[in-house]
Amino acid sequence: MEIITDIAPLRARLQCETSIALVPTMGNLHTGHLSLVQIARQRAGCTVVSIFVNRLQFAPHEDYDCYPRTQENDCRLLEESGVDIVFIPSEKILYPVPQEFQLLLPPVADTLEGACRPGFFRGVTTVVLKLFNIVQPHVAVFGEKDYQQLQIVRRMVTQLNLSVDIVAGQTIRAEDGLALSSRNNYLDVIQRQKAGELVRSLRKIGESIVSGNRNFPQLEWSAIEQLNMHGWKVDYVAVRQQCTLLPATVCDSGLVILGAAWLDKVRLIDNLLLAPS
Ligand code: PAF
Repeated sequence: MEIITDIAPLRARLQCETSIALVPTMGNLHTGHLSLVQIARQRAGCTVVSIFVNRLQFAPHEDYDCYPRTQENDCRLLEESGVDIVFIPSEKILYPVPQEFQLLLPPVADTLEGACRPGFFRGVTTVVLKLFNIVQPHVAVFGEKDYQQLQIVRRMVTQLNLSVDIVAGQTIRAEDGLALSSRNNYLDVIQRQKAGELVRSLRKIGESIVSGNRNFPQLEWSAIEQLNMHGWKVDYVAVRQQCTLLPATVCDSGLVILGAAWLDKVRLIDNLLLAPS
């Protein structure tokens, strides 16, 4: 496995490759990331994983400074997983000058995560577009855990005619259902015991929908109330259409239930896809 930190040597190294898969990450890798790596390896001859904590997608009050950086361990895991190249640029390499050019995002980026974290998707799409331009992958793999991010990246690729296939990797969960995430590291022991409640409340909504309840606002409201009563501070629980992320209506099939909530200072997000009936 090669570790490359600059753009020119990466481009030179990739010149001879005929099929490249990229897994963009912010590091602090866990089994969820490694499952994306396995998908990437099946899709292309050369697998590139990028590790870059992207300041642009963090608001000033967010956790950019304390975001876990575990480069040595990450590289060891990636080597064991059969990755060909890890690209670890510094901020100076990726943003040598202030990043004035950014994308004008569609309304789907203003809802849910976009409403709670203004500027987040602008930061994500900027770095993802730069990584696509640098690596020129044929395939890029993103986790379904960040469902809205995945949808927005898909739209960016379609609407900007980028020649990369976006492949989704399923959310990997701990035994109690908690979706694996680097931010789970922030949870203390008590919070960790409670953390599975978020996905359980999404599952409860899913079960009600499957058994015929289409009163989505009531289902959302009751989940929010339950979580708040159990010590969470809920940003949203929402039943949406999978493709558009618009609020689901009674006749829709192909739904996704999304949730974001805080346990004290730790913010967790999750989602559950309901197959079209
Ligand atoms: O999902 C993430 O880890 C990040 O948002 C990404 C896609 C690597 C961009 O910084």
